[in-house]
Amino acid sequence: MAKKMKWEKKIDRTRVDNQLKEAQQEWREARQNIFEHRSFIPNIYYDDFFKLFKLNAEILLFERGEKTEYKIDDYNKSALSFICTYLQKCEGVDHKKGIMIVGDIGTGKTLMLKTAIKIIEKHTIKRFKQLHSKEVAEAIKEAESGIRSLKKMPMLIDDIGKEQKEAKDYGSAFNPIPDLFALRWDFGSWTFATCNYNFDDLVNFYGRSTVDRMNQMFNIITLKGESRRK
Ligand SMILES: Nc1ncnc2c1ncn2[C@@H]1O[C@H](COP(=O)(O)OP(=O)(O)OP(=O)(O)O)[C@@H](O)[C@H]1O
Ligand SMILES: [Mg+2]
Repeated sequence: MAKKMKWEKKIDRTRVDNQLKEAQQEWREARQNIFEHRSFIPNIYYDDFFKLFKLNAEILLFERGEKTEYKIDDYNKSALSFICTYLQKCEGVDHKKGIMIVGDIGTGKTLMLKTAIKIIEKHTIKRFKQLHSKEVAEAIKEAESGIRSLKKMPMLIDDIGKEQKEAKDYGSAFNPIPDLFALRWDFGSWTFATCNYNFDDLVNFYGRSTVDRMNQMFNIITLKGESRRK
């Protein structure tokens, strides 16, 4: 084994590690700031965006064993056009807010948001945590610092309103989605969601203050039509 240099003994490893961590964090934040000013995707015409979207959606379908053609029609075209302007951070679109897609069962909400996220992740350093609403309580319980671990990272919560209204952690009760949304609203965090319910149902389920926060957290778009499941 190499003999230790005299000066090596004096190195305070923890201090060096902390300084390295701080510098890395500073670097990440600086990078993040640069990316904040950029669009999520390069400037693109609608027609090209639709092609890009269709391909990415078909990859996701294929990965889950569906060899289905992704259709762009009168039912989803305006939602896709919105997503196109949103991803380019066009004027008049609030890209600081996330997107919530509301619509009947099977209208293509989850696939649409997962495809948008796939495109965002391809073009930026942002990475989404994707959870079904029923998984939120468990994720809060399992996280190292509880709900606070989930306060900041970009998230997709699929199918809100399908979860158990109340969960228990070591005997104390909590409301997974309202608690999570309240915290993320405080931090202005980027959240995407899908939902089958209308405004009144959501108010009944979550209460007015949560739904009021949702209005501020999301650009809400609707997908009309019948189920696309075959
Ligand atoms: N644009 C589309 N073109 C063709 N098929 C589609 C399209 N969008 C969705 N589908 C089909 O519909 C299925 C359901 O889509 P998805 O899971 O996105 O619906 P959803 O609205 O989230 O449903 P739920 O309300 O049950 O959660 C997909 O697995 C796919 O087969
Ligand atoms: Mg869904």
